[in-house]
Amino acid sequence: MSKIKPEKKNPDRPSSKKIEPFTRLRGMKDILFEEYRYWDIVLEKALDLAKAYGFRKIETPILENQALYERSTGQATDIVSKEMYNFIDKSGEKVALRPEATPGLVRSYIEHGMFNLPQPVRMAWIGPLFRHEKPQTGRLRQFWQFDLEMFGEAGPVADAQIIQIAYHFFRELQIDVQVQINSIGCPDCRAAYLEKLADFYRERGRRAKLCEDCRRRFGKNLLRLLDCKETQCQEIRAEAPQIVDYLDEACREHFIKVLEYLDEVDIPYNLNPFLVRGLDYYNRTIFEIVSADVPQEGEKRQAALGGGGRYDYLVEKMGGRPTPAVGFGAGIERTILKIKEKNIPLKTDAGKIVFIAQLGEQAKRKAMIMFEEMRRAGYNVRQLFVKDNLKSQLEEADRLGALFTVIMGQKEIVDGTALIRDMESGVQEVVDAKKIVCEVEKRFANNGQVNC
Ligand code: HAM
Repeated sequence: MSKIKPEKKNPDRPSSKKIEPFTRLRGMKDILFEEYRYWDIVLEKALDLAKAYGFRKIETPILENQALYERSTGQATDIVSKEMYNFIDKSGEKVALRPEATPGLVRSYIEHGMFNLPQPVRMAWIGPLFRHEKPQTGRLRQFWQFDLEMFGEAGPVADAQIIQIAYHFFRELQIDVQVQINSIGCPDCRAAYLEKLADFYRERGRRAKLCEDCRRRFGKNLLRLLDCKETQCQEIRAEAPQIVDYLDEACREHFIKVLEYLDEVDIPYNLNPFLVRGLDYYNRTIFEIVSADVPQEGEKRQAALGGGGRYDYLVEKMGGRPTPAVGFGAGIERTILKIKEKNIPLKTDAGKIVFIAQLGEQAKRKAMIMFEEMRRAGYNVRQLFVKDNLKSQLEEADRLGALFTVIMGQKEIVDGTALIRDMESGVQEVVDAKKIVCEVEKRFANNGQVNC
C-alpha cells in the first residue's frame, strides 16, 4: 500500500485559522436554480410583448458618466442625491452605476443619431440597476427592470400603448394590477400650478405641520410633497389644489385622449391627482402600476410594480434634437414576489424529456455519442455522465421529469442494443441501438404509427 506523503508547507495556504467565507453585500441577491424558473417566465413574457408591439432589444453600459443622471433624473431627486452608487474611477472620471435605464437609453439615442431612423424608435431593455436604498422586501440595492422607451412620437396613442403593454405584462403573468394615472402638464401649466400649491402650503401654517423631509423639500421639489407617505402630510394634501385643474388646453386635450384610448382597449385605470413620480424629467402623462390587492389593516400601501410616463423635453435637455418620448419600467424582482405570493403555478418544462443513463466505461462512451445524436435531432435530452451508478442516474431522471430513460450497459454494448425504460411504469424494453432515435420517437408519439 502506498503511503500518502505529508504535504509540504504551502506558503499560499493560510494557517489553521478558520476562514470566514464571504457573503453577499446587503440588498444584493443571488438568483439560485429554483428562483431562475420564475425569471425565465417573466423575462420571456417581457420579450414576447416587446416584440409583438415592435420594440427592439438594446443594451447600454452599467457604468456611465455621473453627470448623465444628475442632468436627467435630477440633482434633487432621492435617486441622485441619496441613492446613487458613484465613485471616481482610476482615470479620475466621476462615474455611476446606473440607477435607472432611461438616461442611458436617451444618451444612446442621441449618440447614435437615432433621429435619422424611421420614428418612432422603440427600445426594449432588460438589465440590472443599482440604488443604495434601505433594503426590505421588494426593495433591493441591485434589482432588475424591464424597460420600454418610445422616441419620436408625441401623440397620445403612444402613451396609451405603453400603458397597455405595462398592464398586459402583469395581467398575462396572472398578477392583478391597477393603473394609477395622472397628468402633470407641461412646464408652463405646471409653473402656474406650483404657485398655487406653494400658496396652499403657506396658508394656515400648513407648511410648519409637514414632516421634516417635506419641509426640506418645500423650496426644492414642491411636487414631491404630494407623494409623501407620512400621515400628517397626507392629511394636509387631501385639500391641496389638483394639477389636472390647471392643465392648459393642449395638455388637457392630450390627457383626455390617452384616457379615451385606454377605455377603447379596455384597460381599467384610476385617476390619481396626487401621483407625481420621483424623477425630474416627466411631463404630461405619468402612471404607476400597483398591485390590486387591498392592503390589510396596518399594512403599508404596496410599493409600485412599475411606473413610467412621457418625457418630451429630456432628449433636448441632454443635447439632442427636440424629440418627444414616453416609456415605462417594471421591477422584475417585485413582479416575481407577486407571482410567488399568489402561488401562481409555474409551467413545468413542457418538452418531453428523455434521459440517457450508462453503466461501465464502454457504455459511457457510446451513451455520450448517443446523447449528442439525440440533442442534435432536437430532443430534450438529459444525462448525468459523471455518475457511474445507475440508481443515482435514475433518480436524476425522475427529478427532471423524464418520460423515458435509455440505459446502456456492458451487455447492450456487446449485443448492439439499448434498454428503454418507461419512467412511470418502470417497464423496460430492449431495442436496436442503431434505431434508438426512432424508437424514442415512437414512444413519445404513443401510437405506434412511427415505423423504425
Ligand atoms: P421607477 O419608478 O424609479 O422608474 O422604477 C420602476 C420600477 O422599478 C418600480 O416600480 C419598481 O418595480 C422597480 N424598482 C425601483 N426601485 C427598486 C428597488 N430598490 N428594488 C426593487 N425594485 C425597484 C424608473 O426607473 C423610470 N426610468 C421608468 C421609466 C422608463 N420612465 C420612463 N421610461
